[in-house]
Amino acid sequence: AKAVPVPDYDFSFDGVFGTFDQMAKQRGFQVYREVCAACHGVRFIAFRNLMALGYSEEEVKALAAEYMVEDGPDENGDMFTRPGIPADRIPSPYRNEQEARLLNNGAYPPDLSLMAKKRKGGPDYIKALLVGYGEPPADVELMPGMYWNDYFPGHQIAMPEILFDGSVTYADGTEATLEQMSLDLATFLMWTAEPSMDQRKQTGISVMLFLLVFTGLMYAVKRKVWADIH
Ligand code: HEM
Repeated sequence: AKAVPVPDYDFSFDGVFGTFDQMAKQRGFQVYREVCAACHGVRFIAFRNLMALGYSEEEVKALAAEYMVEDGPDENGDMFTRPGIPADRIPSPYRNEQEARLLNNGAYPPDLSLMAKKRKGGPDYIKALLVGYGEPPADVELMPGMYWNDYFPGHQIAMPEILFDGSVTYADGTEATLEQMSLDLATFLMWTAEPSMDQRKQTGISVMLFLLVFTGLMYAVKRKVWADIH
């Protein structure tokens, strides 16, 4: 089957001046939590980092407390679980790759924190992957436990089609179409991969503006310093 090029979707964070859409990040996190978290971790993200999505300290504390995290060893050398606190990383569904493969028929659902940086196409690829399921061409027989996806390299993916219109009910009332959810997830995962993107771009713009002014200033200084030399 022929490779299908990943479409270039419109994201709020496209381009030099593009910034993250705060509500899209929150919605993406909601879909991640309710759907993807069953199989995928975002192991580089701590609960406290979610304040960057616009949640208050109280909300983050309450959210962390909904999770049980492993801690220890205690004074007897035993591991134990306790409710999460903001400083904890968001717990992953599996303890390691071996356990993940054991529970997924040999396939490994990778950690998603850096996925938007690891895969060619980044957030466009993630969105495309989520909307790219379908029937295989007539001349292709799927291997057992595999699904057809237009955008997955090789097309046969072990991850089932998981997102459908209305898979979640958005807290902010936005209609949860497949299109919307995959866009929001791509935004959330772009944020987990590069949480300081907004600041990076802002710094870049400030530096360019400074250099522009500085160039003018230096030119004026040069003209003044050399004015008497003929
Ligand atoms: C792979 C995203 C839900 C199981 C992947 C990949 C991404 C992804 C980006 C990597 C594809 C690649 O390697 O290029 C998501 C998102 C989800 C979601 C955003 C939520 C909407 C799930 C769920 C399951 C699952 C619920 C388990 C039932 C897998 C598996 C793979 C995978 C087994 C490895 C596929 C392979 O290598 O053939 N997923 N996933 N995913 N996912 Fe998911």
